[in-house]
Amino acid sequence: MSTERIEEFLGAVKAAFAANTLIGLKLGGYHGAEADLKSIDVKKIVAKGTEKFSFTFHYKTRDIIKNQIQPEALGNLRTALRDEFRSARLATTEFDLTFERNGDKVRLKRTDVAGRVAPSTGHDRAKNRPLTATDKPWLHALGITGKDGQVRNDAQDKFRQINKMVEIFAPLIQAIKVDKPRIVDMGAGKGYLDFALYDYLDGKADIIGVELRDKLVADGNATAAASGFAGLSFVPGTILDYDATGADAVIALHACDTATDDAIYQGIKAGASLIAVAPCCHKQIRRQMEAGKPATELGVLLRHGIFLERQAEMVTDTFRALLLELSGYRVKVFEFVSDAHTPKNNLVVAEKDGRAGRDRDAVLKQIAETKALFGVERHYLEGLLGL
Ligand SMILES: C[S@@+](CC[C@H](N)C(=O)[O-])C[C@H]1O[C@@H](n2cnc3c(N)ncnc32)[C@H](O)[C@@H]1O
Repeated sequence: MSTERIEEFLGAVKAAFAANTLIGLKLGGYHGAEADLKSIDVKKIVAKGTEKFSFTFHYKTRDIIKNQIQPEALGNLRTALRDEFRSARLATTEFDLTFERNGDKVRLKRTDVAGRVAPSTGHDRAKNRPLTATDKPWLHALGITGKDGQVRNDAQDKFRQINKMVEIFAPLIQAIKVDKPRIVDMGAGKGYLDFALYDYLDGKADIIGVELRDKLVADGNATAAASGFAGLSFVPGTILDYDATGADAVIALHACDTATDDAIYQGIKAGASLIAVAPCCHKQIRRQMEAGKPATELGVLLRHGIFLERQAEMVTDTFRALLLELSGYRVKVFEFVSDAHTPKNNLVVAEKDGRAGRDRDAVLKQIAETKALFGVERHYLEGLLGL
C-alpha cells in the first residue's frame, strides 16, 4: 500500500521533471542514520547539456550539493521516502503534492495552483561558476576543499580564480578545430588549471603539465590517477627541453620571467593553434631599461620604481605580442582575473591566423623603435626565435 503511494509520488516527480514544470521538492522529517542531516531540497538543473536532479543536503552546520542523473536520483528518492524521511512536498507549476508517512501508512494530498512559472534550469547562475560540484578528489588534494567536500574559507579566492580561468580557457580550447586537442601547460606548478580544465572538458582534451619540481609532478600524477583522469599527466623537466611537437595549445600561467618566453617559443615552434600566457615578473626587460638609455622624454615616467616596473611589464608584453604577430598569430591582451587575486593579471592570447603574419618589415621596425625608445638592447624571445 505505502509502496504504491511512494511510486505515485515518484511518478509525479518524474513527470514534472520531464515536462519542465518542477519547481522544487523538499524532504523533511528525517529519521535516518546521519546524525546532522535535517532536510533535502531537490531541483532540476541542466549541466553541460545533461538534465540532472540537484540535491542540496542541509546539515546542521553546512550544505552539500550532489547532482545525479534521473535513474540514480529516482532510486535514491525511493529509498529516502520509504526509510528515511516522513514528509515531502513536491511543488510544480500546476499543483503541490504533499507526502506524509506514518509507519507503513502513506498519505498524499494534491492542491492545484495557478500562475506559477518554473525556475530556470541554468546551472546555479547566481554563482556563475563552471565548477559547481565540490566533492571532487582533486579539489581536496589541492587543498581547495576540506574533508566535508566544501570549499575551505581560506581557499574561496583560489576557487573563484580557477573558475574564472576555466571560463576563459574552455571556450578558447573548444574553438580549436581538433577532436581531442593536446594542451601543454608549461610551468604547471600544482596544476590547478589543468585539473579544472580536464574536469570541465570531461576528458575531451589531453593535458600535459610540464614542471621543474619533481615533487609537484609526482603529486599531480597521483591525483590525476586517483581522479580517473587518464588524459591528464605531468612530466618533469624544463620548458625548453620539453618536446612540444603536436601540441594544439601551449599555455603558461605565471611562469617565471623568461620562462614565459620559453613557452611562447615552444608554442610557435610546434605551430600550436593557441598560445596563451599570463606573464609573471618582467625582470629581463626591467634590468635593460634601468641600465640602458630610454628616451629623455620618458625619464619622468620611469623615475619611480613602481612605474618603471609597470612600464617594463607593458614593454615586455608588447614585444611578445609583436613577435607572436610576426609568427602568424592574432593577438589579444586582456585582464584575466581581478587584481584582488594577483597583480599579475594580464593574459596574452594568440590564435593562429592561418594567414601569413603581419607585414614582417613593419613589425620588425616597430620592435626596433620600441627598443630604442625604452633603452632595450634585446628581448629574450627575439634570441629564441633567431632574430
Ligand atoms: C608561479 S608558479 C605558477 C604555477 C601554475 N602555472 C599556476 O599558475 O598555478 C611557476 C611554476 O613554473 C615552474 N617553472 C619555472 N620555470 C620553469 C621552467 N623553465 N621549466 C619548467 N617549469 C618551470 C616553477 O617550478 C613553478 O612551479
